[in-house]
Amino acid sequence: MACDHESNGAQSNAKNNYGEILDGALAISHGKIVWLGKADDLPHYNKNDVKVIDGQGQWLTPGLIDCHTHLVYGGNRANEFEMRLQGKSYQEIAEAGGGIISTVKATRAATEAELLASALPRLTALHQQGVTTVEIKSGYGLDLINEVKMLKVAGQLEKTLPITVKRTFLGAHALPAEYKDNADGYIDLVCDEMLPIIAEQKLADSVDVFCESIGFNLAQTEKVFNAAKKHGLSIKAHAEQLSDLGGTELAAKYNALSTDHVEFLSEQGIKAMSAANMTAVLLPGAFYFLRETQLPPIELLRKHGVAMAVATDVNPGTSPLCSILLMLNMACTLFRLTPSEALAGVTCNAAKALGLSTTKGKLAIGFDADLALWNITQPAELCYQFGVNPLSALVQNGDKVI
Ligand code: NIG
Ligand code: FE
Repeated sequence: MACDHESNGAQSNAKNNYGEILDGALAISHGKIVWLGKADDLPHYNKNDVKVIDGQGQWLTPGLIDCHTHLVYGGNRANEFEMRLQGKSYQEIAEAGGGIISTVKATRAATEAELLASALPRLTALHQQGVTTVEIKSGYGLDLINEVKMLKVAGQLEKTLPITVKRTFLGAHALPAEYKDNADGYIDLVCDEMLPIIAEQKLADSVDVFCESIGFNLAQTEKVFNAAKKHGLSIKAHAEQLSDLGGTELAAKYNALSTDHVEFLSEQGIKAMSAANMTAVLLPGAFYFLRETQLPPIELLRKHGVAMAVATDVNPGTSPLCSILLMLNMACTLFRLTPSEALAGVTCNAAKALGLSTTKGKLAIGFDADLALWNITQPAELCYQFGVNPLSALVQNGDKVI
């Protein structure tokens, strides 16, 4: 797959390279990959000492990684879907108190158990399509108690399903009603009260900000990045989704892991990402669901060797689409990624977007044994066909879980 982003050169998104080993074998010990190569070259082993899974000639890939979701939330927004079909825009609905804020109301009203129960089918759907690692953001609580509640639910999900969960604190997602006309005051709350407690209780790995005209401006975003840095959390940004505010260049200054959405990203922003070795997370589901027409600058990302990840962005407003395989298809049909690039987007480049590029997202010695076995005859089938689930086995940390 197009995974050699470490070189950070123009060839880094090589278009047609899966790095495949035909008639291969792979050995696992203590949850890690300890050997891989041609089956004929497999070192001698005693059949009584090992458990053998016969892949029967199917294709084995790294377990898939969905590096951007908001899958813990209360209620749903099917009513806003109807409103949009009657002509209202996503921004208009948000400005009229709907959008993210309506999900905040439903999320605040839900108990931890209710949030867990509603998130579980969404996560299960991803897992059944080969996802072994998922990122889950908070951002529908917008006060300490409810942000903590969401992050705890994300932690419980990891105990409920055999899947690795990385958590991201997205307190700066929208302005809660009680801070109307006082965005700076809310950002102070995020930075001075919420973030220190969330960091101290180890409830999140990263911090994210919605840097946008309907989100937070550059100065507010920078305050949150500073607080994240101070508390040792990595940084991500929702930026350049609806307009070009320059959030990506700011994120690059703070050595962020990724900028996500990026439809309106400029070449200057891309150069900054390249210099900071950041990943661009493409979210074709939100592009599709909002009927966006501005395409992300794929050719420029290729030109400057920026690694591209692909994720679902599962959320009730812009991407209620719990299918990583659908995202592979959309990344190719809507964004014109090659299947090799799309597959890198849900494996090695998704790992990079989560700061996991030395442990996950590749079939390589020393990496976590998270593996997906597919009943396909060539890798491009994972991007090409949709609606039939070709997953035939899933291994997480060396254990067969499907
Ligand atoms: O990734 N852009 C901001 N956040 C989400 C949308 C959240 C919502 O509408 O509930 C996104 O598109
Ligand atoms: Fe998002």
